[in-house]
Amino acid sequence: MCGIVGYIGEKEAKAVLIEGIKRLEYRGYDSAGIAVIEGDQMIYERSVGRICELEKRIESKCNGSTIGIVHTRWATHGAPTVENAHPHVDCSKKIAVVHNGIIENSNYLKSKLQEGGHKFRSETDSEVIAHLIESYFSGNIENAVRCALKEIEGAYGLAIISLDEPEKLIAARHGSPLIVGIGKGEYFITSDVAAILEYTKNVVYLEDNEIAVLTRDDMVTTDINNVPISKRIDEVQWNVDKVEKGGYKHFMLKEIHEQPQTLRDAMLGRFEKDNTLVRLGGLKEKEKNLHDIKRIIIVACGTSWHAGLIGEYMIEDLLAIPVEVEYASEFRYRNPIIEEGTLVISISQSGETADTLAAVNEAKKRGATVLAICNVVGSSIARESDCGMFLHAGPEIGVASTKAFTSQITALFLLTLFMARMKGQKEILSKDIVSKLREVPGQVKKVLEKEDQIAEIARRYKDNENFLYLGRGYNYPVALEGALKLKEISYIHAEGYPAAEMKHGPIALVDKDMPVVFIATRDKVYTKILSNIEEIRTRGGKVIAIASEGDNEISEMVNHVFYIPETIDALTPILSVIPLQLLAYHMAVMRGCDVDKPRNLAKSVTVE
Ligand code: AGP
Repeated sequence: MCGIVGYIGEKEAKAVLIEGIKRLEYRGYDSAGIAVIEGDQMIYERSVGRICELEKRIESKCNGSTIGIVHTRWATHGAPTVENAHPHVDCSKKIAVVHNGIIENSNYLKSKLQEGGHKFRSETDSEVIAHLIESYFSGNIENAVRCALKEIEGAYGLAIISLDEPEKLIAARHGSPLIVGIGKGEYFITSDVAAILEYTKNVVYLEDNEIAVLTRDDMVTTDINNVPISKRIDEVQWNVDKVEKGGYKHFMLKEIHEQPQTLRDAMLGRFEKDNTLVRLGGLKEKEKNLHDIKRIIIVACGTSWHAGLIGEYMIEDLLAIPVEVEYASEFRYRNPIIEEGTLVISISQSGETADTLAAVNEAKKRGATVLAICNVVGSSIARESDCGMFLHAGPEIGVASTKAFTSQITALFLLTLFMARMKGQKEILSKDIVSKLREVPGQVKKVLEKEDQIAEIARRYKDNENFLYLGRGYNYPVALEGALKLKEISYIHAEGYPAAEMKHGPIALVDKDMPVVFIATRDKVYTKILSNIEEIRTRGGKVIAIASEGDNEISEMVNHVFYIPETIDALTPILSVIPLQLLAYHMAVMRGCDVDKPRNLAKSVTVE
């Protein structure tokens, strides 16, 4: 989704801005633009498509600038055109603004400004901000910004420069993430820390209604009413190599192969010395609440929602606490019943998904304790929630979520064990269950070593336009996730279904042209799923099975079988999803798709 970078310092602003915004390409965008101040001129350029198009336009320009802003846009209001791309400027072309978020009262503000003589050049909601600031400007840019923001309804992360005060870079936030990076004699603004890691790890996370005024040697933070706010400087733990491809052809493939390590990292430091008891530092202050939990609601979107479903099976299976899993986008507009003893768990890789963030706020408003399972430290969901666990999976750049998913399952398993400890359900807490968890990273490595087998299956089926993914029990959410992975990066139509439910409709689709992926490991429902495979076979469907090592019976029944090591039912999804991630990846590559930046998708969906 949209990305912002801003810079003020001694370096050439163009180079810093373009390098930075390229690191945010993974978030998805359809146009880009830059504005810099050079001498007594404001230079701004915009283009549709990739950042390299913008680079071509400014090749011989902006070489002496040391202050500027840049943006990648993912269209919400107005088509992806040059006119609609950011930065937007005011009538005098002296104020340039880049904006992430949505201005909800933009129509009203636009007509008011037009009545006052302002001329608009785009169809966007964002352009009103530049004109509104212009309408309040009388010599001091930050005062004009403050006045403008008081009139705006909606969400924004903003970076602003003005030709009248060329020594100031302004950042403002409300509902859309914005971070200030602190260097020596230089400051950065970014919507995603990956953009500035090359230059600094010292950052300040702006909160809602905060404004930062940055000069080369100072940062002043205030609220919207100009009340000074002192901010803590945090140190980011990620290195720049974590946001590079490290020899892999795509970020997605790199992230799939990182999973043995990311799973270990998810467990790191989370066991007491005896190796059976889980300790979760981020939940320390909420131990009493967790002891009294009577009901759990999990809110999330997409892949994180699939992880939530696995969490539901785990918690009900092992703890016998009732769990509901809700799409965050539905939860926020229903009338969710939150009684005493309800825990809401929000799951989000990015921590910035607008619907999940809104669900968190709704749950809090209704009195629930909110626990976040997040990957990005300092993200809005992590900060808004009452307590939480980080995944420690490192930045996930590929739009299709892979390593975050398996770390989310691991986190949910650790949380289940932690709650068992809090509730005194000692029977679950055995060395055996923990050793099974500890075995998983090595087992994932073994699965990854057989990647060629999956690539071969991909070669055979890459031209099919429809796929069914079926699973039962813990493997039903895995079927949903396998289908989602395939459709989002290869554009093949794929449906995930609970295997037994297929008889109630989707079986009508099955014929010789319908490959069906069964996740059929030896678990509680194994014999049941064999019957479902039989139902497909008799209708001529081609079956690809993900099965447990040593299961020779199944190989007789299906067209292709891929074996994974055995573990306990609750941990099987971590292993069974790996071949499905690889299958989607290889099919997409073979079909010539842009795996890391699939069409129409954004890494972090910060609009509803
Ligand atoms: C997964 O591959 C997706 N692209 C998408 O479904 C994602 O999981 C969803 O948008 C939620 O994102 P989050 O985990 O960052 O909140």
